[in-house]
Amino acid sequence: MVAATFVVAVNRRRFELPTVSPSTTLLEFLRSHTPFKSPKLGCGEGGCGACVVLLSKYDPVLNKVEDFSVNSCLTLLCTVNRCSITTSEGLGNTIDGFHSIHQRFSGFHASQCGFCTPGMCVSLFSALLNAEKTTDRVEPPAGFSKLTVAEAENSIAGNLCRCTGYRPIADACKSFSGEVDIEDLGFNSFWIKGESKEAMVDSLPRYDRDNEVCTFPEFLKDEIRSSSGLDSERYGWYSPATIEELRRLVEANDSGQSMKLVVGNTGAGYYKELECYDRYIDLNFVPELNVVRMDVTGLNVGAVVTIARVIEALKEKARGEHMSRGEVVFERIAKHMDKIASGFIRNTASIGGNLVMAQRKYFPSDIATILLAVDSTVNIMSGSRTEIITLEDFLKRAPLDPTSVFLSIKIPNWEAVTKVSAGSDTVLVFETYRAAPRPLGNALPHLNAAFLAEVSSSKTTSGFTVHHCCLSFGAYGTKHAIRARNVEEFLTGKTLSADVLREAIKLVRATVVPEEDITTSAYRSSLASGFVFDFFSSFIVSDTEISDGFMGNHHCNYEMPPVLSSAKQMLNLSTDYDPVGKPIMKSGAALQASGEAVYVDDIPSPTNCLHGAFIYSTKPLVRVTGINLKTKPRPDGVSVVLSFKDIPKGGENVGAKTLFGTEPLFADDITQCAGQRLAFVVADTQKYADLAANSADVDYEREDMEPPILSVEEAIKRSSFFEVPPFLYPKQVGDISKGMAIADHKITSAQIKLGSQYHFYMETQTALAVPDEDNCIVVYTSSQCPQFSHTVIAKCLGIPESNVRVITRRVGGGFGGKAVKSIPVATACALAAHKLQRPVRIYVNRKTDMIMAGGRHPMKIIYSVGFKSDGKITALQLDILIDAGMSADVSPIMPYNLLGALKKYDWGALAFDVKVCKTNNPSRTAMRGPGEVQGSYIAEAVIEHVASTLSIQVDHVRNINLHTHSSLDLFYADSVGEPVEYTLPFIWDKLAVSSSFNRRTDLVEEFNKCNRWRKRGMSRVPILHQVSVRPTPGKVSILSDGSVVVEVGGIELGQGLWTKVKQMAAFALGSVQCDDSEDLLDKVRVVQSDTVSLIQGGFTAGSTTSESSCQAVRLSCHILVERLTPLKQKLQEQMCSIKWEMLIEQAYLQALNLSASSLYAPDVTSMQYLNYGAAVSEVEVNLLTGETRILQSDIIYDCGQSLNPAVDLGQIEGAFVQGIGFFMLEEYLENSDGLVVSDGTWTYKIPSIDTIPKQFNVEILNSGQHSKRVLSSKASGEPPLLLAVSVHCATRAAIQEARKQLLQWGGLDGSASMFHLAVPATMPVVKELCGLENVESYLEWIASRN
Ligand SMILES: Cc1cc2nc3c(=O)[nH]c(=O)nc-3n(C[C@H](O)[C@H](O)[C@H](O)COP(=O)(O)OP(=O)(O)OC[C@H]3O[C@@H](n4cnc5c(N)ncnc54)[C@H](O)[C@@H]3O)c2cc1C
Ligand code: FES
Ligand code: FES
Repeated sequence: MVAATFVVAVNRRRFELPTVSPSTTLLEFLRSHTPFKSPKLGCGEGGCGACVVLLSKYDPVLNKVEDFSVNSCLTLLCTVNRCSITTSEGLGNTIDGFHSIHQRFSGFHASQCGFCTPGMCVSLFSALLNAEKTTDRVEPPAGFSKLTVAEAENSIAGNLCRCTGYRPIADACKSFSGEVDIEDLGFNSFWIKGESKEAMVDSLPRYDRDNEVCTFPEFLKDEIRSSSGLDSERYGWYSPATIEELRRLVEANDSGQSMKLVVGNTGAGYYKELECYDRYIDLNFVPELNVVRMDVTGLNVGAVVTIARVIEALKEKARGEHMSRGEVVFERIAKHMDKIASGFIRNTASIGGNLVMAQRKYFPSDIATILLAVDSTVNIMSGSRTEIITLEDFLKRAPLDPTSVFLSIKIPNWEAVTKVSAGSDTVLVFETYRAAPRPLGNALPHLNAAFLAEVSSSKTTSGFTVHHCCLSFGAYGTKHAIRARNVEEFLTGKTLSADVLREAIKLVRATVVPEEDITTSAYRSSLASGFVFDFFSSFIVSDTEISDGFMGNHHCNYEMPPVLSSAKQMLNLSTDYDPVGKPIMKSGAALQASGEAVYVDDIPSPTNCLHGAFIYSTKPLVRVTGINLKTKPRPDGVSVVLSFKDIPKGGENVGAKTLFGTEPLFADDITQCAGQRLAFVVADTQKYADLAANSADVDYEREDMEPPILSVEEAIKRSSFFEVPPFLYPKQVGDISKGMAIADHKITSAQIKLGSQYHFYMETQTALAVPDEDNCIVVYTSSQCPQFSHTVIAKCLGIPESNVRVITRRVGGGFGGKAVKSIPVATACALAAHKLQRPVRIYVNRKTDMIMAGGRHPMKIIYSVGFKSDGKITALQLDILIDAGMSADVSPIMPYNLLGALKKYDWGALAFDVKVCKTNNPSRTAMRGPGEVQGSYIAEAVIEHVASTLSIQVDHVRNINLHTHSSLDLFYADSVGEPVEYTLPFIWDKLAVSSSFNRRTDLVEEFNKCNRWRKRGMSRVPILHQVSVRPTPGKVSILSDGSVVVEVGGIELGQGLWTKVKQMAAFALGSVQCDDSEDLLDKVRVVQSDTVSLIQGGFTAGSTTSESSCQAVRLSCHILVERLTPLKQKLQEQMCSIKWEMLIEQAYLQALNLSASSLYAPDVTSMQYLNYGAAVSEVEVNLLTGETRILQSDIIYDCGQSLNPAVDLGQIEGAFVQGIGFFMLEEYLENSDGLVVSDGTWTYKIPSIDTIPKQFNVEILNSGQHSKRVLSSKASGEPPLLLAVSVHCATRAAIQEARKQLLQWGGLDGSASMFHLAVPATMPVVKELCGLENVESYLEWIASRN
């Protein structure tokens, strides 16, 4: 056989590459060498799932195909030689027909921006395929799969979605499970409520498990049988087939060539290796390294065995109801490993790779910790020597040198071990722990641990005795996992009691001390003591005899279903304006699911296209004296570095522009903040551009420079502010002195600080600029405001605006981050294209995107509040300092937005001073609910504070301070609306009933009485959100066949704008009253935004662009209807039946103008209006870890008469979950220079499917007629995000219970109720308030009572 060329099948098509750089990833190949663009780059770190594809491998000996999902962003291309790849397009598409997965994702409204959807679809597909391969499951009913409901939800546990809030995705996945009760599935467009189960099943797009797509084409099987591995020399890729060959290859590496051993390459997701090695040695084909062998002494696992296979082998051994001691250990290890990374990572990540990373680079491994506790041994090869040592010794050794190979690991069978070491009167107890922000994994732990103990099986008068124990801890900020030998020694031979446990925990605290990340040091140590307590406490509190095997009753690892358990959606449909109001599927949803929807980076590169990357400053307010690209790693193909010096004559160094000012495209000699754009590197490929930008050495000089302003306090000192135009500055209400004077109580100068939040749109910033004839330029950009990009590009290049054309088709998520912040990205590409006269594109990498994004506005709030003894507030005074960063952006709107939401309660009198501070931090920008989310939170913080001070129910304080319509009028004179439109009191009461608020409050109380280490909290919160409608254009053109093309100012960001617009066009044109008007919906196509075709598009922001775009289209349609009606009437006189197509044909013959445009300019008196909603959330806090699980959230939100309830439901759920991110999870941190350090999926945790409410009920209230609104509809994009504060408040309530208990134990110095819960309420934050030493306090309390 000849050494072969690289061949791969993608969607059953053959691709051959005679040469390829061995560092090429599968994703790079798919996106640049094949027509398939469905795998997307979301993070490049294995952390988001946007790039997931199905990998199929064929074993010619067994004639068997193995299929599994993998991330294509880390998988190196050469490892998939002679494999088959299936992407979402390969499952189905427009031409061959969509797969039922695509259809169900569409029908369950599970795709919004669609950027995550193809990856989700493939993850589900892989789970379906593998469920079918199981042999021990009952046959599912026709049209369903063998997949269990839990597996269906888990299948997408590693895939992130920023838009939907996951609930509809979970439903789409569950709809395939043969186990599912079809009535449990959520709102969809397949059936209507009340249909029989049979009818529901029949209406689901059929899943045909017997005719699933072929994942491995025959031609490739033939090729595999007749060819050998890759030509190593040609590809720089070596695949040794024996240990001997491997040894020779490794030893031969003295030639100075760089070399890398590789298995799954997932380690590159963490260590971001940028260099390309000369040689790659693929360990996957060495049989000894692939071994998984179980014998009586234990499980031997070869180094390249994937984590998924190890789990399978362990579970295989630990099957059945009565497990032996050894099997219990295996089962627990498997369970823990199931939480490592995500399914698609575990499918390629090897056990050896993990342990080598842990040993060599101190990676915070789970595997090292859990295998350390069971005395595992490892086999290492160094040169010709192999040695077997304990895992503990291996971890302690100096980092493994690059030529040593990790061969295998042995996990002992504790059945055999303990039979020798202990008598029959002992039990073996084994448990593993990890405290991580996501219960199902895909998050590194703050600390992990594994404990094994042999304890006497029956309690003597003095208690249970520990005969032997192994306690390991890891991932807590040390180099590697450790065995706490001193604690083990202390406990061995001891009889367990509260005192003994207290002493042991003291030792644990002294031993488990992080070396790095001192900010969470105390938290991590407290986790260690909590876990040890959890493990042993049942022996000191339980009187029960322990039977042989595992002893349960653990507080940390108790099984709460980690994913969504149920959800309800209540929608009141209206048919007044049919098809407006119908919950029709999102326009283009199936295209998004199959991956055929074209985003900017999917547009094929024009010939000669170059790629750009930003070089940004890492320092604030310093002089930049030089930018040099390092030669190593060699940034091949770098063409040019552009900076402010390259702005053409007549142009300006401008990168963004708003009503409030401009922002430079590049820093000039002085950089204003860390993260500011300094230059733009242009290279042949995106990878080289990124490499070059990354290699840039920037010289800074600080001499003679003022110190930067990095805090709002400093900004105050130096009077550094942005001006807020008077018309945007909100008005004070009432007389604050009087309000304070009549108060019975006062809280003075309380302080709150709020941090930032990153948008985390799945598609990062991207643009493509193409120079055109006559000094013109066309720019494709993923932007919420192409009009502004247009203006800025013209200004920057110094050309008339008529020479510029900006096109945006769809945006892969924006959330405000692709408004102002998208402009410099498009402008930089335009500048480079203009200067080099070649097309230039950019897809900003996640890290750079996060560093430059700016995010939400952090702020500091000081408030004083006066109130009566019954909780009625009489006056609120606020001083608010907003950190706007280096440039104005849209920051001057912040006071208005903030107060708009804060005024949701009747404060009596309200006075405030809001300053928008100009600092040397990255420029902050709009993010979904900008200012409103903070305002709403501040209001709740004040309410909670008042309730705590008075020791009364916080719900009572909320109730008593809700607005009446007359107080509403006082606070919102410009937007109050009619009394009937003030639906909040109605919503408030309705929600109490629908969520069983009072009954559940009692249950929570009961729960808290009965549970020591878990406390629950409930909270009901109202929101009020003011929005403004802005002028928006629309254009409707009827083509000669009767099809309709619609253009609108609004951009489709995933929010369903196009769908609503389509419905409106069909409704409005329908008034011409042809016989087939109901078919019009299918004839309407909304097309991309093109700034020369439709001008004055404005910003797509502020929740109202859908309705204003709809209204603009309605006006345009009215013009057309007016033109068509006389003709229609004339024709009607001649014929009794007039069809639309015939009418249009006649209109063309009569030269009627069938294109109409209009600019909808809302009436100033009704531009602003108020939105209402309320939510009840119930949470459970784990007092040992600080973990908060959201048990249930119930929402009622007033959409007026929804234009499309399915779309609005998606907005409500998605916004709420994004709000959970802000309040509970997302820490967008900066270093002391203001440089963002939460710069990827490793450090920035957005909600995932396992962090949303377990029960999630949403009701969309149809509040009827609103004469001044567009077809009586109201906005839904941003306001529901504010409702997530209910989760935060519920968490506070649970913590308060924990603190009451702590006070009783004598472990709390302060008050149980007077505390501030920071945002986000992350695990460390919650735990600290529950007591970092609560376990010790408890043990002391017990001891003191004995
Ligand atoms: C998104 C994500 C989340 C993760 N979460 C977790 C987590 O929660 N807990 C956890 O424990 N781990 C986690 N991991 C780490 C993951 O388990 C490891 O990346 C993986 O096991 C490494 O295996 P690999 O085959 O991909 O190694 P590779 O990336 O191929 O190799 C890793 C390193 O080890 C070297 N190497 C590999 N095999 C050998 C060998 N046999 N001998 C000598 N050197 C070798 C390579 O040269 C390389 O330097 C996560 C990884 C990702 C990408
Ligand atoms: S892009 Fe591959 S996992 Fe995010
Ligand atoms: S639809 Fe999932 S990220 Fe937008």
